[in-house]
Amino acid sequence: MRILITGATGTVGRNVIEQLAALDPEVELRALTRDPQAALPEGVEVAVGDLSSPETLADAFKDVDAVHFINFAGEQYAPLPEAAAIVALAEGAGVRRATVLGGRAEGDLEQALTAGAIETTFLHPVEFMSNTLMWWAEAVKAEGVIREPFGDRVSAMVHPADIGAVAAKVLLDGGHDGATLLLTGPEALPIQDKVRILGEAIGTDLEFVELTVDEARERWASQGMGEDMVAFLIEALGNTPEEGKTVVGTVEEVTGRPARGFADWAAEHAAAFR
Ligand SMILES: NC(=O)c1ccc[n+]([C@@H]2O[C@H](COP(=O)([O-])OP(=O)(O)OC[C@H]3O[C@@H](n4cnc5c(N)ncnc54)[C@H](OP(=O)(O)O)[C@@H]3O)[C@@H](O)[C@H]2O)c1
Repeated sequence: MRILITGATGTVGRNVIEQLAALDPEVELRALTRDPQAALPEGVEVAVGDLSSPETLADAFKDVDAVHFINFAGEQYAPLPEAAAIVALAEGAGVRRATVLGGRAEGDLEQALTAGAIETTFLHPVEFMSNTLMWWAEAVKAEGVIREPFGDRVSAMVHPADIGAVAAKVLLDGGHDGATLLLTGPEALPIQDKVRILGEAIGTDLEFVELTVDEARERWASQGMGEDMVAFLIEALGNTPEEGKTVVGTVEEVTGRPARGFADWAAEHAAAFR
């Protein structure tokens, strides 16, 4: 069996590859990237292509049985401009099964897959535990202080390895055709608990300082975050939907093992915060 992983150099894609290799060392893995020099695990075939230009993808889909899709192109997670053409290519190449990583860009890819013949499972992770790397690591290293708005926020964050594990299981074994799988971690944590758990993992006391929304806007803009991203974050963090703070058992139901907790993630990544 050969599986194509799109977004393969990203947070989730790297985990999809790792989990596929762990579940079935015999499976042939092909990684799509725009970067011919991309560093990928040994044994993974690299396919260079750009999801915003379907004409660059023919070789990537050749002899592929299953695909893990991202639904965006570019750094700002813009929707795929020619999703239907990509799905037609995949169908023409004989792809039978797909998983789709859901996110901000949902729309055309999902519609084209639903209308077509490929068995598709839609993965809907809530907030990734790994966001803390991007948001907190520099401040923790510099001053041991975490500054964020919405201090009473609770999140059921998911470990990216569990997104990878669910994708891997579905891609290899099938089932869940047409299903949307909501993926959370095993606990809904208030921000203060996240700060404490991370501090324990890195062996230091961390302080949490709650920012007002205006202070957060200013801080993120001064860190180079674009206006759209700032607006998205204020909305996502300030109005976390019920599903973002409610634990569900999907990871264990699909993979047969309990979802990894934030303490696991923090222990694995402590070095990045020291
Ligand atoms: N962070 C969260 O809390 C969260 C929660 C739920 C859902 N999501 C969703 O997760 C997705 C992001 O996943 P991630 O964090 O794993 O991504 P990421 O780490 O930002 O990596 C982006 C990946 O997309 C690939 N890519 C970008 N544009 C491409 C193009 N035009 N053609 C081919 N490949 C392209 C990149 O490949 P190359 O650079 O190698 O070409 C890279 O592998 C988004 O849809 C987001 O909405 C995020």
